[in-house]
Amino acid sequence: MVDGTNEIVAQQLVLKTVPKGLTKTEDFAVRDVKLPPVSDGQILVKANYIGVEAALRLIVRDSDEFLFRVKPGDVVRGTCAGIVVESKNPSVSVGDAVLVGKGVQDYILCDPDEFELCDLDQAPLDAWLGGFGVSGLTAYFAVFSECKPQPGQTVLINGAAGAVGSIAGQLCKLAGAKVIGLTSSAHKCKWLETELGYDVAINYKEEGWLDRVKEHSPERLDVIFDNVGGDPLNQSLTHIGMNGTVLLCGSTSQYSAENMSGPSNYIWLGTMRAKMQGFVIFDYEDKYPEARSRMSSWMKSRKLKFPSHQISGSISDFPRVFRGLYEGENLGKMLLKIE
Ligand SMILES: NC(=O)c1ccc[n+]([C@@H]2O[C@H](COP(=O)([O-])OP(=O)(O)OC[C@H]3O[C@@H](n4cnc5c(N)ncnc54)[C@H](OP(=O)(O)O)[C@@H]3O)[C@@H](O)[C@H]2O)c1
Repeated sequence: MVDGTNEIVAQQLVLKTVPKGLTKTEDFAVRDVKLPPVSDGQILVKANYIGVEAALRLIVRDSDEFLFRVKPGDVVRGTCAGIVVESKNPSVSVGDAVLVGKGVQDYILCDPDEFELCDLDQAPLDAWLGGFGVSGLTAYFAVFSECKPQPGQTVLINGAAGAVGSIAGQLCKLAGAKVIGLTSSAHKCKWLETELGYDVAINYKEEGWLDRVKEHSPERLDVIFDNVGGDPLNQSLTHIGMNGTVLLCGSTSQYSAENMSGPSNYIWLGTMRAKMQGFVIFDYEDKYPEARSRMSSWMKSRKLKFPSHQISGSISDFPRVFRGLYEGENLGKMLLKIE
């Protein structure tokens, strides 16, 4: 916002306390920060969308063990897609679209190395945070470089209706595999089957879900694409196939647990000569342009959708939207759309 002296006052979300269990609105606070004038080389960006990441819950834990850490008093980590409103950088014009990973805030002052220009001919701005952003790239490299599903094989994806899962399922279909999704409601199952082309989607909150998975994969599972860990992973391990791959993409069910726990059914990996594979998207950074070019052409030929679940509001709404992600509200990438 612009104050009475014509200066920009940014709203930033900071962590107030280390959350216990699922995050609460009171764990966060909004602070107003008067931004200094834009100096040479810098740009000023107004955020249009802020990505809501499951992994944020992991990095607000009271622990330095994970890739990143946000401590009480720090700006909450996050990436925005926005528009340049002022530029003193000769290679950037007012109106250009950019991605900025400087946390949850509505106006952001960026140095030359703190933003990435978005080519809106490749994909719309909201998609640059979701299916065309890190979530979609995660699905792309996890599928094509790690899981490598083949025609005739069967893939099980948990967290299937989320940001990564919604793209991973479509890519496995493009690779010719049969795709089974796990998610938490009949509504989300129907969406996966009718909108995204999953062969079948199963509600893992219903009794007997594993029996249904088995009905649809009589020759066992060639790939388990694991976004959530916990019980969905543990039970499905008993049905991994010979030389199968279990791709550890994420462990959403564990991020807010006081004591994290791993799968006890690991013994099936031994019997089936299967492997469990860790994966971090940042290892593929130099290949993003190549992936984006293929994903953009699939989008344009209507072979790939970039679904996003947009909730309009201001920075103060972020904690509520983040909580909604953990309550399974989203179909595709959860985004806070800044009004
Ligand atoms: N390895 C990497 O480089 C990399 C990169 C990006 C993301 N990730 C990870 O990939 C995973 C998916 O990320 P995303 O952005 O696509 O998130 P997301 O799936 O959009 O996250 C939210 C979904 O997780 C499910 N969920 C929430 N709490 C759960 C619980 N206790 N048990 C089971 N499911 C639960 C809900 O789906 P349902 O309604 O279906 O339960 C919810 O809609 C995350 O763990 C993230 O950290 C990894």
